[in-house]
This record gives sequence, C-alpha cells and structure tokens, in this order.
Amino acid sequence: MNTLLSASAASQPGHGSDSISDRSGQVLAIRGGRPLTGRVEVKGAKNLATKAMVAALLGETVSVLRDVPDISDVKVVRSLLEVHGVTVDDDGEGVLRLDPSGAVSAHMEEIDAHAGASRIPILFCGPLLHLLRQAFIPDLGGCRIGDRPIDFHLSALRAFGATVDKLPSGIRLSAPQGLHGADITLPYPSVGATEQVLLTAVRAKGTTELRNAAIEPEIMDLIAVLQKMGAIISYEPNRVIFIEGVDSLRGYDHRCIFDRNEAASWACAALATDGDIFVGGAKQQEMLTFLNVFRKAGGDFDIAEDGIRFRRGGDLKPVVVETDVHPGFMTDWQQPLIVALTQAHGTSTVHETVYENRLGFTRALNQMGADIVVHPEGIASDERRVPRRALEQAAVINGPTPLHGADVVVPDLRGGYSYVIAALAAEGESTVRNVEIIRRGYEKFLDKLTALGADFDVIG
Ligand code: UD1
Repeated sequence: MNTLLSASAASQPGHGSDSISDRSGQVLAIRGGRPLTGRVEVKGAKNLATKAMVAALLGETVSVLRDVPDISDVKVVRSLLEVHGVTVDDDGEGVLRLDPSGAVSAHMEEIDAHAGASRIPILFCGPLLHLLRQAFIPDLGGCRIGDRPIDFHLSALRAFGATVDKLPSGIRLSAPQGLHGADITLPYPSVGATEQVLLTAVRAKGTTELRNAAIEPEIMDLIAVLQKMGAIISYEPNRVIFIEGVDSLRGYDHRCIFDRNEAASWACAALATDGDIFVGGAKQQEMLTFLNVFRKAGGDFDIAEDGIRFRRGGDLKPVVVETDVHPGFMTDWQQPLIVALTQAHGTSTVHETVYENRLGFTRALNQMGADIVVHPEGIASDERRVPRRALEQAAVINGPTPLHGADVVVPDLRGGYSYVIAALAAEGESTVRNVEIIRRGYEKFLDKLTALGADFDVIG
C-alpha cells in the first residue's frame, strides 16, 4: 500500500526536523513551476567526513568529529568501522565519537553486507594494514563497486610494501613486515588515491613523496585531521605532498569543512527555478571557481558571514565549462548546472573530463523537454591538461527550452538531485523514482525542499 505524505503536512510542527527524510520516500510526485525560496543549512562535507572517520582507525585514542552530515554514506562508514570493532557514538547533533581501542579484523561477509555499493572499503586498506598487517576488501572488481577503477590505489599499496592478491571474491592484502615509505607519482590527480596514500603513509616507516596529488579542499582538511593526530605532512604548490611516517598517532577533535557540493547544488536550484536561496554554512573561498561560472551564467550572489545567498541576476546566459580537478570546476557541479543551462538564452557546452560516463543523466532531461546533445568523444580541443583522459564527453545544451513533467528514475547521487530540480523547474507533475539514492549525499533533503516551498508528495 502506498503511503501518501504531502510536503505541507509533513512541515507541520511536531514532525521533527527530518520527519520526511527518515521515511523510505523512494518515489516523489513533484509539481513544478514554483521558485525555490528560503534558507537551507549545509553541514560537513560528505567527501571529508567519511575519510576522517576512516582516519580514526589510525589513532590510539578517541577521535571526535563535528558537523557530520546525517547521510547514508556516513552510515555505511559507521557500520564498516563497527564491524571492525570501533565504537561509534552519535549525539544526534552531528558529533561522532569514535573509539578505535577495540579494532579487530572483520569477516568478509560482514564487510560485504555493510559496504553495499560503496567504494569506501578501499580506504580502509592502509589503516588496517598498519593495525592488523592484513586486510580483505570484498568484490572490488565487480559491478557492486561500480565501474570506477582502483588501479592507482593498488599500485600505491604495493609501493608501500603490501602484497595484493586478487581473488574471485575480492582483494586480499598483507604486509607481515609492516609498510615503508614510497615514491609515488599518480597518473592522474585522483582524490581517492591521494587519500589512500595519505592514510597509509602517515604510519609507514620512512618518508613518502607523492607527486601529481589531488589538492581538493577536502584533501587539505584530511591533512589537517591527520596533523592533529600527530602526522607530519607538508606540500608544495606543484601537487607534491611529503609525508614523514611516525610510530603512533592519537585521536583528533575536528569540525568538518562545509559541503561545497551541496552548496553548489542549492545554488543551481535557485538558478533553475528562478528562486532565491540562502545557503547557510557556504563559504566563498572553496567555491571561487563555481561562483565565477554561476555569475557568467546569469546568477547573482551575496557573500555573508554565515553563508551565501544565490539568485538570478537577469536572463540566464550560455557558458562553456570544462570539469577538472581542483582548482578547476568540479565534476559534481556540472549536473545541477546543466539543469539551469536548459533555461539559458543560447548554446552552452559542458565538457566532462574527470569521469567517462557522467552525462548519461541528460537523457531524462531531454524527456522533460530539454535540448541536450552528448558527444561521446568530447568536442573541445584543449591541450592544457596532461595527461588527457581517454573517453571525454561533452554536452551541448540549447536553451531556453520549457521543461515539462515526466516519469524518471534517479541514476546516481548528483544526477538524481538534478532530476528533482528539473522537475521543480518544469510545468506540470513529474514522478521521480529511486530518490533514496539522493540521501547518500544530501542531508534532510526532502525537509530542505519543503522549507524552500517545493510542492511534492512522497508516494511509495
Ligand atoms: C571523489 C569524490 C567525488 C568526486 C571525485 C572527483 C568522494 C567520496 N568522492 O571520488 O565526489 O567527483 O572525487 O573530484 O570523495 N581513477 C582511476 N584509477 C584509480 C582511481 C581513479 O583511473 O585507481 C580515475 C577515475 O575513474 C576517475 C578519475 O580517476 O575518472 C577521478 O577519480 P577520483 O578522483 O579517484 O574520484 P573518487 O575519489 O572516486
């Protein structure tokens, strides 16, 4: 039997702050055509909180992590830590207390059951190798973990002295003699592989030099966490990071950096729906590149002490954007931006260079009336970036095109958010299925939509 819960009913007093989000709202009926207006708060970054939680495994004492978002990716990491014997207490206000003193090896089935489709288990490798001299990561080659490769991670772990055996059931790693420092050059500044190296090198014997490292703000925040724990890490401006291994690390007390991806998502929602959204907790410095594109696309913003207000500054204008590693335009920003660009006067181009398959979500936008053509090989001839990615893609967006309601299925986190925003910008009613996925990265998502005046029902 379908439960029907209207947004306005759920926002009545007494429902609690995440009254809707806690229900299994997998299907939304959204009535569009209303600007989103109001204030939302962003908490700590998903892309830092989950890694800082893993770092707690390296400490000999309790760690405290603040501003942790209530999202399902955090729950996955928490479960994985718990199956490894870490005690995790949650005060219900975004403060986690992580006690690693009982850390143990976990059974493969338990890791498998708790990890789900997440790639996070790969980041447990270094800390587990230091702690237990062995680690097992189930099923990494299969579709459960997605198509994204982990070759950089595995060759870095081998460089630290780990033995890596690929088995049909997963990957077994061992380092009976412990790990030593290494000279590593990443083929591409991968965020995950850089984190892998950091989480492994801090306790390895000797010095590690990492070249072509990712330098995203969340990585810098992870370095701050590790320094609080006793690590010695320095970096040069040319993507080189030096880590001097130490014998032991203690726990940390840290407030997560804000989630700039969520902030950019709400900014694009204001642009797409012609709304006016104040994003509490957003900061200018980490969003400089986004803000430039937002302004060029016809957006306007005011920077305040406690956040950023986003709205249109006039007609939306076409832009040419290429996603890139930091300090470039982040790949997670392009999906919500594309929804807004369907309303720009002219032809925009978004060239995805970080991932091979992050433009598939545009098919559903075309179903809603957009005019987006995806060129599988990419169309830009930009020789600045070396090395070039093999299979780049570009989306050409012709606007403005009125959007209308459709029945769509959420494909992934950012694509899913974009469908909801498109449905809210569209005339008529849309059905958006599989909304659960959006909770991987957006805290209290439905409550925030309600606070912004969105008109929707949770059905099924
Ligand atoms: C992280 C972020 C994600 C963001 C991405 C790029 C988290 C939880 N997720 O993902 O939101 O979009 O950074 O900023 O922090 N690659 C390889 N081999 C590897 C590892 C990566 O070829 O071993 C490739 C990937 O296929 C991809 C590119 O490198 O094309 C970038 O991936 P990476 O930076 O590692 O992304 P994640 O850490 O998975």
